[in-house]
Amino acid sequence: MFIVGLLALAAFGNVANAHTAAFAPGMYCHGGPDPSQDNPHTSDAVVPLYNLPRSQLWFQADRGCDRAPPAPGVFLELPAGGSFTVELAHNRAQTTLSFNGEFASDWPDGQQHPEHWKGPGNPPDCIQDDGAMHTNNQSMAAGTAFAISYASDISAVTMENLVVFTVLPKDLPACPADGCTCAWLWVPKGCGERNMYMQGFKCKVTGSTSTRRLAPAHPLEAEGNNIELPSNGDFVSYSPDWGFSPGAQNDIFV
Ligand SMILES: *[C@@H]1O[C@H](CO)[C@@H](O)[C@H](O)[C@H]1NC(C)=O
Repeated sequence: MFIVGLLALAAFGNVANAHTAAFAPGMYCHGGPDPSQDNPHTSDAVVPLYNLPRSQLWFQADRGCDRAPPAPGVFLELPAGGSFTVELAHNRAQTTLSFNGEFASDWPDGQQHPEHWKGPGNPPDCIQDDGAMHTNNQSMAAGTAFAISYASDISAVTMENLVVFTVLPKDLPACPADGCTCAWLWVPKGCGERNMYMQGFKCKVTGSTSTRRLAPAHPLEAEGNNIELPSNGDFVSYSPDWGFSPGAQNDIFV
């Protein structure tokens, strides 16, 4: 019954509070910020970050997610040169990680939408029935990205050792025995407030024989911001405009 209430809430308004995270095995805050609890309808990893100091925004430290690692031995597996899947949703209940996927759909809100879902009007306005999509249509959607650090310990991950890879390059080397630390990153482009996402994962690269090393960009932070915000109010994004083309980022190696 609780779930029915939750989905209704997502569907009828309260859209400003509906945000999005990447759900997959290996995620921090998989069951919420309290490692002794396993909340099947957690949305703790979903709340965005904006204009916080590094100490608060880094891997969602503001809500304690950086201190809620996955169970030992559970990793997000990254096949070198291959692909992996995460589920973008507003709540774990809307993913296959809860309730055998009973409340999951092809869309983050667990509802049904047309393949070419768009906002009203022509040209389309922002999508109204799920503001957390932060877009008018598919072509206006800002890309999301994954980054990897070869530090197993999340507290050892720094701006300098965290590298955006987006699509898995074949040359990604294997991780240390206790895995790597990955981050899901998204800076939505318009259709709502400016906000950003940086969500933690324990991850490991599988099937790699590479010994190459990675060389290390990060907007919308109160400190250490190395991207200047455009004065025209445009949104910084993981898109070709900002040096992130679709496909594997093969230029990340030293
Ligand atoms: C997507 O929406 C934008 C903004 O309304 C519009 O300019 C563009 O033509 C739309 N693209 C498609 C493929 O409909």
